[in-house]
Amino acid sequence: MHENIINKFIDANILLNDTAYQKIKTYENSFKLSESLIEDLAPSKEDLLILTGEIIDQYIKDSEDDLYNIENNVQKNKSIPQSKLVSSLPFDFQILRDSSRKSYTNGEIKDFSAYFGSRYHKLKEILQRKKELKTTQTMREAGNMQDLVKVIGMVNDVRTTKNNHKLFELEDETGLANVLVHNENESLFEKAEMVVKDEVLGVVGSRKGSLLIASQLINPGIPRIDEKPMDFSTVFLSDTHIGSSTFLEDAFLNFIKWINGESGDKKQEKIAENVRYLIVAGDIVDGIGVYPNQDKELIIKDIYEQYDEAARLFGEIDGIQIIIAPGNHDACRLAEPQPSIPEEYAKELYKLKNVAFVSNPAVISLEGINVLIYHGRSFDDFAMTVKGMSHQESDIIMEELLEKRHLAPIYGERTPLASEVEDHLVIEDIPDVFHTGHVHINAYKKYKGIHLINSGTFQSQTEFQKIYNIIPTCAQVPVLNHGSMKLLKFT
Ligand SMILES: [Fe+2]
Repeated sequence: MHENIINKFIDANILLNDTAYQKIKTYENSFKLSESLIEDLAPSKEDLLILTGEIIDQYIKDSEDDLYNIENNVQKNKSIPQSKLVSSLPFDFQILRDSSRKSYTNGEIKDFSAYFGSRYHKLKEILQRKKELKTTQTMREAGNMQDLVKVIGMVNDVRTTKNNHKLFELEDETGLANVLVHNENESLFEKAEMVVKDEVLGVVGSRKGSLLIASQLINPGIPRIDEKPMDFSTVFLSDTHIGSSTFLEDAFLNFIKWINGESGDKKQEKIAENVRYLIVAGDIVDGIGVYPNQDKELIIKDIYEQYDEAARLFGEIDGIQIIIAPGNHDACRLAEPQPSIPEEYAKELYKLKNVAFVSNPAVISLEGINVLIYHGRSFDDFAMTVKGMSHQESDIIMEELLEKRHLAPIYGERTPLASEVEDHLVIEDIPDVFHTGHVHINAYKKYKGIHLINSGTFQSQTEFQKIYNIIPTCAQVPVLNHGSMKLLKFT
């Protein structure tokens, strides 16, 4: 494990002196600390960085400073903060991708194959931009070849053989191939353990009888992006679950006071002044009939009244553009892509001039910063089927979704997917920010220059979560403040 850490630093052109190494080794989550140090400090290719103990101490201190606790210290009769005047400037907010208006299906079998065809072709096109896959063979052509074979296919089935190798069935429009990944090839086998049903993958290998022995597995992948400057701040929320008896109303009211510039110390007040946008990535209300006996845990048992209450609370927020996407608790079609929350259920929210509604998923632009919003239902499938993945670390799943360039590749498990003529869950453009929710546990990581944010919840532990020992991180609100992450904790 520790050798791995040193090698990771060397690969990123970073050398550790002895004290730096000891500090990282003895840190509570040394793996995570190493990853964020590399992400934040890695020099350009030609340079070399030597990390000392002092740099590590400073880095840890700065990261801990990012967690602010905001008590209920309301200061009344404050003057209107400067930015609330500045923010009367028009918002530079655009919806770049929204499936609400484009999404339709009549559920016929031809739609089903059109849907997978759309996924395959979109991802094949991305894969063929890679130099290793410029020229590929179809499965039919590959069936007659003896030497090096390069194919692109959709994974039909993933199995572990008796001898603990990985075996996939890979399909394109011309046929099938059985791909074997040998467990002696450790790094490739590790990659094979991440492969899931229905993703689209490139394979380089050679034939042996009826098998294709893989020497490379290639994801569509994402390149490292350059960070764009952000001279404003954005607040990320999800899973407020208004209407539930476990909705943390007091903490939420404190959050509203902070965002309106009515509470917090100087530093926190400064952050609030910079906020121009607020995104809600689904489950704004608790909904009704989402699971058996849910009504016992509802304080508002009517879906219309839940949205009215959401409108009353969010209506308190001044001078900020609010963008709301649905989740699996909202009054929406469950199958993804989910169209935006219908006006008929959320009349009062629709009346608010500063609220816009988008689909799940959606891509929006905030002053040129592209944000991919996805509620995160597919995290359930990844946590259940992929080794090493869990609800606690949704950032690791988000990385993998980006590399696979698909938000919910696994079809037919917990994530209901609509067989549209077009697959809207392919990640076609690289976002600057990837915002999710659903798991009720905050996560943040910068990955290849992209901010991965899971915005936690405003709901305390539910009966369901007690049974599964899921401990939510409540009322911790991530804010991207001029491009740097701050986590504000409300009580
Ligand atoms: Fe959810």
